[in-house]
Amino acid sequence: MTSSGPAPDILSPDFARDPYPVYRILRDDYPLLWHEATESYLLSRHQDVQRAVREAVFSSDNYIWQAEPVHGRTILQMSGREHAVHRALVVPAFRGNSLRDTFTPMIERNARELIDGFRRDGSVDLVHDFATRFPINVIVEMLGLDPGEHARFQSWYSTFVAFAGNLSQDPEVAAAGLRAHDELAAYLIPVIQERRAHPGDDLLSTLCEAEVDGTRMTDEEIKAFCSLLLTAGGETTDKAIGGMFRNLLARPEQFAAVRADRSLIAKALAETLRFTPPVHMIMRTPTEDVEIAGGTVPAGSVVTALLASANRDDRRFANPDTFDVFRTDLSATTAFSAAADHLSFALGRHFCVGALLARAEVEIGTNLLLDALPGLELEQAELPPERGVFTRGPVALPVRFTPTA
Ligand code: HEM
Repeated sequence: MTSSGPAPDILSPDFARDPYPVYRILRDDYPLLWHEATESYLLSRHQDVQRAVREAVFSSDNYIWQAEPVHGRTILQMSGREHAVHRALVVPAFRGNSLRDTFTPMIERNARELIDGFRRDGSVDLVHDFATRFPINVIVEMLGLDPGEHARFQSWYSTFVAFAGNLSQDPEVAAAGLRAHDELAAYLIPVIQERRAHPGDDLLSTLCEAEVDGTRMTDEEIKAFCSLLLTAGGETTDKAIGGMFRNLLARPEQFAAVRADRSLIAKALAETLRFTPPVHMIMRTPTEDVEIAGGTVPAGSVVTALLASANRDDRRFANPDTFDVFRTDLSATTAFSAAADHLSFALGRHFCVGALLARAEVEIGTNLLLDALPGLELEQAELPPERGVFTRGPVALPVRFTPTA
């Protein structure tokens, strides 16, 4: 491990305000750093973070304490055949063809309903009234759950994400996570039992009917899967949409280019994922001692892979602190696949199942927003801040536009 000067702290108020200067110090001076407060080794350079998310020796056993208490046992913590078999149950619904044929009209309708709620108003908070609602509405409809429960779903997934990212081990955050687990179980188990008796054509029914190695999943296993999908499908895409509009509206010339050429939406999203990723860090647990970043991480220890830092590594990207929809070292073609240049969906076995769904939601939602909101611009010159350490996104995004009928 190299060092110079006092090591930066990823739990400090300065880091919470703006983590990117801290990431730079970490990459340049502390590429492998033991962080006492989180009891984990921080990895910050692109090449090292890439290894941590891709190589099998970095297991995801950390989700046993990071996610299992709130979700139950999910694919996040599985490996080998168990992981592959469970993942295969949901992957078909999230593949390109299935998304296009089955879900595009539903995604479009969900976006339109929200936009129709504010298009006549001339102003709106894009985070509060669109980004935090649209992705969760979509996954709720995919699962065939009640959209009227939006507020509860959102509160549950925010609580679960806070639990997973409870780096300072706040007992209140931990207790809230366990309460939300019980509430979601009390809500979902009866729905699962009902769906077993009367299956529909929704994803929840598919999970109820699916056989893993000749046996059906238990109610508890299905509940855990749904709990993960609601969280993974809600919080992350919500922050990606807010982040993309914040990045674009702060740079009117790039926003105008995207408005004029909608094929640039995918590039704007890819660059947003690199520049301001919704998930800043994920953890791993090496099953053997691993030589990395000039040191050794011992078997059984916890590694914090700083995805957001890797995405700003100037060893990998030119001018990494510049948001540039037109950058040539980030391909939008591979950005939503396990060959992505950025690391915001992770890589390897646990590469995000919902990457193509996220892309479809953002492309469809953004097209409809741009059509419905001519003259869209920021309400105030000052950009609303981003919040969050583990996951991060804009707290609000007040905008104004010319009302349309
Ligand atoms: C821009 C939006 C999204 C981002 C940035 C994102 C990010 C991530 C990341 C970083 C992981 C890897 C976690 C790890 O290995 O520790 C992951 C996994 C996962 N994501 Fe996403 N995600 C997004 C959207 C979605 C959506 C829309 C869904 C589906 C509803 C989804 C479902 C999942 C699932 C099920 C996994 C676990 C995969 C596995 O363990 O094999 N994600 N995501």
